[in-house]
Amino acid sequence: MKNRLNEIIRNATAEIAKSADIETLEAARVRYLGKKGELTAVLKSMGSIAEDERRVIGKLANDVRSEIEGSISRRKRELSDIQLKAKLMSEKLDVTLPGTAQKVGKLHPSTKVLNEVVEIFLGMGFEVTEGPDIEFDDYCFGMLNMPKGHPARDIQDTFYINDKVLLRTQTSSVQVRTMLSRKPPFRIISPGRCYRVDTPDATHTPTFHQIEGLVIDRNITMSDLKGTLDQLAKRLYGDDIQTRFRPHHFPYTEPSAEMDAGCFMCRMKGCSFCKGEGYIELLGCGMVHPKVLSGCGIDPDEFTGYAFGVGLDRLTMLKYGINDIRLLFDNDMRFLSQF
Ligand code: DAH
Repeated sequence: MKNRLNEIIRNATAEIAKSADIETLEAARVRYLGKKGELTAVLKSMGSIAEDERRVIGKLANDVRSEIEGSISRRKRELSDIQLKAKLMSEKLDVTLPGTAQKVGKLHPSTKVLNEVVEIFLGMGFEVTEGPDIEFDDYCFGMLNMPKGHPARDIQDTFYINDKVLLRTQTSSVQVRTMLSRKPPFRIISPGRCYRVDTPDATHTPTFHQIEGLVIDRNITMSDLKGTLDQLAKRLYGDDIQTRFRPHHFPYTEPSAEMDAGCFMCRMKGCSFCKGEGYIELLGCGMVHPKVLSGCGIDPDEFTGYAFGVGLDRLTMLKYGINDIRLLFDNDMRFLSQF
């Protein structure tokens, strides 16, 4: 019996060492240690031998079992190492190969300038609100003191959906919406798209962008307007840039003005960009007309306010020295990728 056990261990060890994969190893385990395996068969036949000898053989059989188990688990570890190495080799990555460059998008120059303007006004306590592109004639014109037939409508011809609804020509419509829906005090800016029946040229496109501003509170005066808009110009173009206000006319503000900012190209010395003026026209503004306030349910004896409207595309062109507004709408990557 001893001989049989020695034979088993010799064969098992050789077979385990030879097994080239987990399946063959498992087959070897079943053959020697399984229920119908060779070692089990020896143990089963032990009933027929003398008690003394049985104890010796029993111990020997146990030793054989644990030695075979040890060999199996060692081989298992070796095989899984080999498997892992093979896997790593087959999946090897050459990190020195040049990568495939991804095209990274960027913000449109007008969006960049808009973000800058929004940041400036948020810092001064304004909120950002938005109004619809498709607007009531009344909000775009009527309630801004431009009844049907008013001559100021002529320069803002637009696309009519029907008699009462149109594509807004100016973000000033958001002034009306804000005053109708909220109780003062408030200070808002409202950026958005506007539309006019214009033939495209270097300074006109039928779709363009404005940023409207509106402040309504008690004791708001023209000096609040001037201080705030002067700050806008300085934050956009630098602290040395001065502003000047020229009298103008808008039906919804009284008094009204246009604001010029010092030319940032020549730092106000006069150059071809500002046509020797030293200044560049930037925006329209004024004190909200009492008729507009009362028409929107705000008592002009209690509240006053100012409003302004600035062309975002114009700001963008000035900021980046772009000489044709159409470039901002063409979506030509050769142009846009420069910013
Ligand atoms: N809506 C005017 C335009 O499109 C700009 C403007 C002027 C807006 C004066 C205002 C303002 O709020 O007070 O030309």
